[in-house]
Amino acid sequence: MITVVGSLNMDLVVQTEHIPRVGETVLARDLRHVEGGKGANQTVAAARLGGRVSMIGAVGRDEMGDRLIEALETDKVNVSGIKRSSEATGIAMIIVDANGNNAITVVSGANHDISVQDVRQHEDKIAGSSIVLAPLECPLQIVMEAMLLAKKHGCISVLNPAPAQALPEELLSRVDILTPNETELHILSGLPTDTLEECRIAGEKLMESGIKSLIITLGSKGCYYLDSKESIFYPSYEVTMTDSTAAGDCFNGALVAALSKGESLPDAIDFAMKASAISVTRPGAQPSIPTLDDMENFDLWYEERRLDK
Ligand code: RIB
Repeated sequence: MITVVGSLNMDLVVQTEHIPRVGETVLARDLRHVEGGKGANQTVAAARLGGRVSMIGAVGRDEMGDRLIEALETDKVNVSGIKRSSEATGIAMIIVDANGNNAITVVSGANHDISVQDVRQHEDKIAGSSIVLAPLECPLQIVMEAMLLAKKHGCISVLNPAPAQALPEELLSRVDILTPNETELHILSGLPTDTLEECRIAGEKLMESGIKSLIITLGSKGCYYLDSKESIFYPSYEVTMTDSTAAGDCFNGALVAALSKGESLPDAIDFAMKASAISVTRPGAQPSIPTLDDMENFDLWYEERRLDK
């Protein structure tokens, strides 16, 4: 089993030609409500791609909260760890431009109404899991607690340090696999991360805090795996991007789904790269995440879309 400790948001999404500059007004045709939130997206990816998943988080006692929980139930997620808070459900305002790039502002709401006690109340879920995954959209203390309980119960702890922020060594020392992108790696290490070599040096510095391995996601370039013995670059499956929202979440969820089924780390990384390649060709956060059927047909799907053919 996998436990994800993290955020749930209703994404309010608009598509525009370009992301407005400071002081600029741009027009969009419509506003879509899409199920999102880094924690919930990672949960859905893990569940849709073959993992048995429980989620610990919080939504408000409102319609958006109902809809987010129903979406998780559709993907057979155990939602008994999701608290109904008196705060409103979290909201993310997302602008997606014509090239599929985005800008996101999150109003945390209920996601910030989770306490260490709330996580401890669901210790049994973590105790019954082989993997615990957490992004950073909830209060840091609950992420620290999740990683602490993961260690206590012998789980593989995976931390997706998004959105980027500096983190205490006390937290990093509890992490088995850290999955930053280049910007997050730069903020965490304080070192430049513009080239693979710089990423390797920054990653090695971070590993001094006790992290066992790093998977640095490099967007359309691919990802870079690093542990104390080796470093491996995985080139991406290059496709035309429609919407990059939740591509990183899809990667993290797919990674833990594959690991929970006993796949090796290199195979799990390849699986995650394939899943996120599919997700960037589809709009929205949770709706963009592929199913196992999509993954079985990946080779054919990719043959038709690959950019390098
Ligand atoms: O990573 C994408 C997610 O970030 C969106 O679904 C949005 O809710 C924000 O949390």
